[in-house]
Amino acid sequence: MKTKAAVLLEMGRPMPYAATRPLEVLEVDLEGPGLGEVLVEVKAAGLCHSDLSAVDGTRPWPLPLVLGHEAAGIVRAVGPGVGDLAEGDHVVFSFVPMCGNCRYCAAGRPHLCERGVQANREGRLLTGARRFSLEGRPLHHHLGVAAFSQFTVAARESLVPIPKEVPLETAALFGCAVATGVGAVLNTARVEEGASVAVLGLGGVGLAAVMGAALAGAHPIVAVDLLPHKVELARGLGATHGVVVGDGDAAEAVREITGGGADYAFETAGSVAAMELAYRATRRGGVTVTVGLPQPERMLALPAVGLTAEERTLKGSYMGSSNPRRDVPRFLALYRAGRLPVDRLLTGTLPLEAINEGLDRLAQGEAVRQIVIP
Ligand SMILES: NC(=O)c1ccc[n+]([C@@H]2O[C@H](COP(=O)([O-])OP(=O)(O)OC[C@H]3O[C@@H](n4cnc5c(N)ncnc54)[C@H](O)[C@@H]3O)[C@@H](O)[C@H]2O)c1
Ligand SMILES: [Zn+2]
Ligand SMILES: [Zn+2]
Repeated sequence: MKTKAAVLLEMGRPMPYAATRPLEVLEVDLEGPGLGEVLVEVKAAGLCHSDLSAVDGTRPWPLPLVLGHEAAGIVRAVGPGVGDLAEGDHVVFSFVPMCGNCRYCAAGRPHLCERGVQANREGRLLTGARRFSLEGRPLHHHLGVAAFSQFTVAARESLVPIPKEVPLETAALFGCAVATGVGAVLNTARVEEGASVAVLGLGGVGLAAVMGAALAGAHPIVAVDLLPHKVELARGLGATHGVVVGDGDAAEAVREITGGGADYAFETAGSVAAMELAYRATRRGGVTVTVGLPQPERMLALPAVGLTAEERTLKGSYMGSSNPRRDVPRFLALYRAGRLPVDRLLTGTLPLEAINEGLDRLAQGEAVRQIVIP
């Protein structure tokens, strides 16, 4: 079949993207679904900073690439061997497919799935296939999802069924921003009631972490960003205090508010500077969790003796250490009960043709989660 898709042909074009247009909306061919695969009509796809990182080259992927990894849609056809999904089912995509058999999946850590991560690196589905092509030349799938397309084909292991009552525009965010931000707090750090939390970087992921900290009963919850309007937004989602980076030493401000540093500091900005800030904002004996994804060559330097003498913990968090089959339904239920106000992350919708303008708004910090309606 034919489908309209936003394709990244080349990385590193400069801003403004409205002028340089790194994503080209093209009519491409889509095959399948093959064995173990599912054809999904994408109804909503969020613009995440990780998409921007693919465009600007911070996170390089094989090209050409059908971009987009945070999405929800409706099953239109299932391939052979898919017995537990049917046409008409609503699904959220997981940006790591979970093979179910590798050592990580077996250990209950499917977000680190060996085969899933390898398939993602190669820009292929977990089945090994690439289903998009342009004039006979195969295209790569972004994280097994390739969501900025009217239709996409995904491995069964990249999909989680959801109740039909959930609006798909909101549901999309559970695949990345919510899984990552809420998961970092509840799964990776396991923040306990009354613990102090700082969140550094208040995009879709960081604001979801603020919501997660409120849900966990953390106090105080200090929201930190370069942009004052992001800090204001966080206050409405459960942050008890706000710090704007640039108004003096932000780490010192967090240390003051929390009486010596946060028990848990989450870096959700994607820069080494923010990681260092998060580490300095953590108390003795505390836990610093990194969620952002800086460029692969960047190194992080920390005071070595402090790690030992202050008994610090530094933890990475990928996809919020989530098991999507467990956590998407769990977090959706909390949203539906009014305990995770995920709707508040939505900044608006845009057609596929306006995706480059959307990248500019994300890069400039004007938007939290814009939803592409392909
Ligand atoms: N670990 C994962 O599984 C995972 C999943 C999704 C996204 N990410 C990464 O998380 C990061 C955030 O993603 P997002 O979509 O929320 O991004 P975003 O662009 O929407 O938000 C980032 C925020 O960080 C702020 N910021 C930048 N530098 C800062 C600094 N030094 N101190 C404080 N704040 C700073 C920006 O002003 C912005 O508000 C990105 O690096 C993204 O690639 C990781
Ligand atoms: Zn993402
Ligand atoms: Zn696995």
